[in-house]
Amino acid sequence: MSSQARKSPVSLNSLRQKKRRGERFASLTAYDALFAELISTSGVDVLLVGDSLGMVLHGHDSTLPVTLDDMVYHMNCVRRGNQGALIMADLPFMSYASESQSLESAAALMRAGAHIVKLEGGAWLAESTRLLTERGIPVCAHMGLTPQSINRIGGYRVQGRDPSEAQSMINEALILQDSGASIILLECVPVDLGQEITERLEVSVIGIGAGPHTDGQIMVMHDMLGLTPSSIRVPKFVKNFLPESDDGIPGAFRAYAEAVRTGVFPGPEHCFT
Ligand code: KIV
Repeated sequence: MSSQARKSPVSLNSLRQKKRRGERFASLTAYDALFAELISTSGVDVLLVGDSLGMVLHGHDSTLPVTLDDMVYHMNCVRRGNQGALIMADLPFMSYASESQSLESAAALMRAGAHIVKLEGGAWLAESTRLLTERGIPVCAHMGLTPQSINRIGGYRVQGRDPSEAQSMINEALILQDSGASIILLECVPVDLGQEITERLEVSVIGIGAGPHTDGQIMVMHDMLGLTPSSIRVPKFVKNFLPESDDGIPGAFRAYAEAVRTGVFPGPEHCFT
């Protein structure tokens, strides 16, 4: 697919239709206007203004120092460059610790142009998810490896390998769907678990290190251009698409979107069993 304007903007509805038709979609992080434009015209359907910006742009060693003001700033930049992709924005660490705080923080991101907000956690997010959804703010629940809880988890490692942990993740994903979540994002889980959750849910499931069966895939933009900061170990689920591009960075974005759509990415070498 060459760079071109879309026929119509991507919506949660169009993602749901893709799931029904069994069509895969690609997502990437974006933090500024220029990359938002390049990515959203390359066949990538969802832009994530991720709190990973704390690590890849701001030089922190975790996502914990990122503030709501940081997120609103980068959200505004991405909105200005976006050409019809769905924009998801992260609620940063401690900006949704209570239900009323979730509403205020999410409202700030929606006012800046987000179409959906992402929160990290499991069933404990059910009430906030219900409140946000009822007030017109769509929610993506980020499960599995949740980087904002890195100090509790104790390291960037695969989640849900133990059968009882896997079963709880399935149950909690169903609870969040029932509470109104429009998307579930799964990070670093075994292929079988990624597949089971995707098949059991009606809403779209986006994976990062969650195997090839999820409805969509996501990666940090810098990782897929081979630009991971030297202080971060390149995760197994990352593939650098720049070497196979015939057109520099825009070509790498198109190659990634195409590889996701056709099911070529992720391959077995990017997955956890
Ligand atoms: O912040 C981020 O970039 C993310 C992705 C890793 C999914 O949450």
